[in-house]
Amino acid sequence: MERTFLMIKPDGVQRGLIGKVIQRFEEKGLQLVAAKLVQITMAQAAAHYEEHRDKPFFGELLEYITSGPSFAMIWAGEEIIQVTRAINGKTNPVEAAPGTIRGDYALRKGVNVIHGSDCLESAEKEIANFFTHEELACFLYPADPKEG
Ligand code: TYD
Ligand code: MG
Repeated sequence: MERTFLMIKPDGVQRGLIGKVIQRFEEKGLQLVAAKLVQITMAQAAAHYEEHRDKPFFGELLEYITSGPSFAMIWAGEEIIQVTRAINGKTNPVEAAPGTIRGDYALRKGVNVIHGSDCLESAEKEIANFFTHEELACFLYPADPKEG
């Protein structure tokens, strides 16, 4: 099944939004494959946002993403990239629709509660930057009541 990397950024963790964010993906019917609280290192942050290294906001972005713990997750499901990016909402929270995570919980572009991979290829790169193979769970979801 297709999978993606989602991460609640330091502002979301700090504000106690982990439960609310997880609930949205669970209720959509997506499968949680791995999750952990991480203090992102500068090296991890630079690798994660490598595509933005020449942008004027790069320095501030690294400073913010390493400023406190983030909650890293892997989720799986059909059309996972499109579905999770839609749930996250537009990058700029001012433009993000109400009902999306960024639309409901964020106000500033640089500080927007959640990250989601933009394609399956970057999802695999981002997963490898944050998780070891041993940390991935494997189970069927939803559980089949006829089994076990
Ligand atoms: P980007 O990959 O364009 O957005 P998304 O997170 O929706 O994939 O940018 C990465 C992060 O960089 C974004 O979540 C917030 C920050 N950012 C800024 O601070 N200023 C900006 O002008 C942009 C485009 C992004
Ligand atoms: Mg992006």
